[in-house]
Amino acid sequence: MSKLFEATNLNGMTLKNRFVRSATAEGMAAEDGEATPRLINLMGELAEGGAGLIITGHAYVDKRGQASPAQLGIYDDKLIPGLRAMVDAVHERDGTIVAQLAHSGLLAIPKLINSAPLAPSAIEGLSEGPLQEMMLEDIQATVEAFGDAAERACSAGFDGVQIHAAHSYLLSQFLSPAYNHRGDAYGGSIEKRARMLVEVAQGIRERVGEDYPVLIKMNSRDFLEGGLELEDSLQAGAMLKEAGVDAIEVSGGTFASGDLMPIRRGIVTEGDEAYFKHEARAFKERVDIPIILVGGIRSFAVAEGLVNDHTADYLSMSRPFIREPGLINRWHSGDRGKATCISDSKCLRPALAGKGVYCVVEKRLQEQRIR
Ligand SMILES: Cc1cc2nc3c(=O)[nH]c(=O)nc-3n(C[C@H](O)[C@H](O)[C@H](O)COP(=O)(O)O)c2cc1C
Repeated sequence: MSKLFEATNLNGMTLKNRFVRSATAEGMAAEDGEATPRLINLMGELAEGGAGLIITGHAYVDKRGQASPAQLGIYDDKLIPGLRAMVDAVHERDGTIVAQLAHSGLLAIPKLINSAPLAPSAIEGLSEGPLQEMMLEDIQATVEAFGDAAERACSAGFDGVQIHAAHSYLLSQFLSPAYNHRGDAYGGSIEKRARMLVEVAQGIRERVGEDYPVLIKMNSRDFLEGGLELEDSLQAGAMLKEAGVDAIEVSGGTFASGDLMPIRRGIVTEGDEAYFKHEARAFKERVDIPIILVGGIRSFAVAEGLVNDHTADYLSMSRPFIREPGLINRWHSGDRGKATCISDSKCLRPALAGKGVYCVVEKRLQEQRIR
């Protein structure tokens, strides 16, 4: 049997294979962030499709951290019943699900949050409107909000949580010298830029106990002038391991990184796939912690090679599951043809507009078949 279909254990969480549905903002929640039947159905469908682990779309831990309409929320206890229904839909189908906890910082939409977005530093030109530099009390309150959200995830029955510290959302902004110009204990050296993130990880660990999986997704590099570089990211990774994190999902890029953004287009050959593989390997060598690799994985053989040569322990995909929720069952059944996703990223538009994520190509094909 392929190593990819071996069961593994991540701090008590049993995963039936090494495939992960990477966090994907579905744009299917209600206006206040509550899970809707449509979102709950999608989670069930993904579980049915065989992925070993499903990570929810980023859920905002605080109302000021909302990034898009119809984004999932986890900022209030009133949202727990909807979150529990998502978990139940997955568990009933023998799946495993982790909640991604997020705050979008300067990427928050002013119209949605009714105020200026919070940021590590109020740097001009990074957003259309004014930004509000976070005071120490704001940092403390946000660390608490992540802890509260983790407790909610735990009581809703999630198998673990993942801290979103990638793609220039708030915690990624703190890590990045391009976004963080602070002169206090939260800015400057990598130890200081990583401090908020470490406090979030420690705070969550204190709330959920030792035996609850706490994962993190972080940038290996920003691919921005003056942004986060690999060496600093590796140091932050080591600090996070010390803080009690159980696995690191290695990503990279920001929405300002042009072609080198986190969600890259034009993945045609096997060589184009797994575009953070060199960074993941560096993490494997320097930080002794399970590594989840995301970004452009499309072929079973590539995925298998990455595990066999110890580049990564888990393979994470987003866009392939939008087109083919049953991809892992297909591969498991012996049909090892490449994922049909063509990586045009057209799925982003309906997701970010709050209209519900779908594969634009697949929808067009289905419409043609009906005609
Ligand atoms: C529609 C869409 C929504 C996404 N939402 C999130 C998110 O909520 N959190 C996150 O960490 N990454 C998010 N991503 C990025 C993916 O998790 C992943 O890192 C990226 O798409 C590269 O993987 P892929 O090539 O398999 O799509 C999203 C990607 C897409 C296409």
